[in-house]
Amino acid sequence: MVVESTYDGGVNVSEKQHKADHRSRPTGAAFRTFMGSHWAPRSTELPELTEAARYAATRREAVSAAFPGERLVVPAGGLKIRSNDTDYVFRPHSAFAHLTGLGVDREPDSVLVLEPVIAADGTPAGHEAVLYFLPLADRDSEEFFADSRVGEFWVGSRPTLSSAAAELGLATRHLDQFADAIGKDAGPGGLSVRMVREADREVTMLVDQVRGQVGLTQDEQATTAVQLADEAFSRALSTLRLVKDDWEVRQMEEAVAATATAFDAVVEQLPEAVRRGRGERWVEGVFGLHARHTGNGVGYDSICAAGEHATTLHWNRNTGELSRGDLLLVDAGVETDSLFTADVTRTLPVDGTFTPAQRQVYDAVLAAQEAGLAAARPGNRFKDIHAAAIKVIAEHLLAWGLLPDGVTLEQTLDAEEGQFHRRWMVHGTSHHLGIDVHDCALALREDYVEGELREGMVLTVEPGLYFKSDDLLVPEELRGIGVRIEDDVVITADGCRNLSQMLPRTAEEVESWVRSGGVRQS
Ligand code: GLY
Ligand code: MN
Ligand code: MN
Repeated sequence: MVVESTYDGGVNVSEKQHKADHRSRPTGAAFRTFMGSHWAPRSTELPELTEAARYAATRREAVSAAFPGERLVVPAGGLKIRSNDTDYVFRPHSAFAHLTGLGVDREPDSVLVLEPVIAADGTPAGHEAVLYFLPLADRDSEEFFADSRVGEFWVGSRPTLSSAAAELGLATRHLDQFADAIGKDAGPGGLSVRMVREADREVTMLVDQVRGQVGLTQDEQATTAVQLADEAFSRALSTLRLVKDDWEVRQMEEAVAATATAFDAVVEQLPEAVRRGRGERWVEGVFGLHARHTGNGVGYDSICAAGEHATTLHWNRNTGELSRGDLLLVDAGVETDSLFTADVTRTLPVDGTFTPAQRQVYDAVLAAQEAGLAAARPGNRFKDIHAAAIKVIAEHLLAWGLLPDGVTLEQTLDAEEGQFHRRWMVHGTSHHLGIDVHDCALALREDYVEGELREGMVLTVEPGLYFKSDDLLVPEELRGIGVRIEDDVVITADGCRNLSQMLPRTAEEVESWVRSGGVRQS
């Protein structure tokens, strides 16, 4: 496959569109000259190196040291069609964003290559970072005015090779040079090439072709040495994100601060959501308005779950009513333009007062969260947070007589034979958080679940209890109550810092927040 051919007319590498027959487009030479002339000169001023790019360079050094002498390929991925000729807002692959510092909308179809540098004595001497991308087209090109997917008339200006190089502090080349560059000295017996396979199907096909990975069955493909090497590479990039640098922590602080503002607005709008009907959608919209205004948008589809809907863990249809007397569970996070997302849950009494049954459940979840937060410190393992929180959940369920007859706390906490309490909290208490809401997903169990907590890790602590309305094991007054409390923390030298601590959390604080229309006390 020749990569240049897929760029004909600006058609995206990963998803081609059929041209619509009913459209006509002027093609005459005079028209083209007319369109391309009499424009003021473009600025030649170069941007400054961004702070994000400086941190990305340090991350690339770690990758370079881990894979000496190998060519390393990290695609951004392509635009994804939403319908016909309408694309989703572009979001680069997380590994690409992490290693370039590029955020929302940048740069579709581009590929970061870490090109091995070999010293005079033949030993590896680091890597040169090269970004292959589609630079701003000249005004005499058809793309300039006629390409609705990438043309300047349609989607705005793009960086030039030199402006991207200045902004990012790496070498830049036109994407049409990528196919030749990737094949150079590669192939069976040649330079080893590894790639992030899952980011861009067409780039993967091209790199596989270069490495002689063609004509294999799917089963064969999954087990070849190059595929396994690719997997190890993707895993290494995901694992690298387990510990956040200072800049990443600042992005998380911004994401959480914006999320807190959006939550205030939601609380302020609760009466309006009740009044309008279809209140869950109103809540989703209010949060989304603030997310879009302060950041790129929401980091995942907001869960706005009133009443019984709160017992569905990922209720994001958000089609329900809000009624006085209900609890509303809102699990939502603002994603910054740099693509870091918060992930916060608050469970709110719609009319400002928990009923005794709601309060009973709320306080149990809060106690579990306190235990989880206390366990979030260096010296502990990631899994200790869940162990601490779920023990408190199990203790409450035992005290309320919900566990099977005769089952002790030790028995239900037994990993193999017990776990009865999980009927009411089936999910884990924590996950890593960052560019992906469930960050570092490819890290091995030994590095993630079994891994020691280290300063700079960013995690959620989010226990819950969910009593479905048709659960016959549960007393009637608890049925239809779902509570989750979720905060985002960064591990510090001797504990953790709760990034979302500005949001009310105890039952009294939450009641007063709702009663005051979204004004936080403190
Ligand atoms: N919002 C999904 C989660 O809490 O993991
Ligand atoms: Mn979460
Ligand atoms: Mn969440």
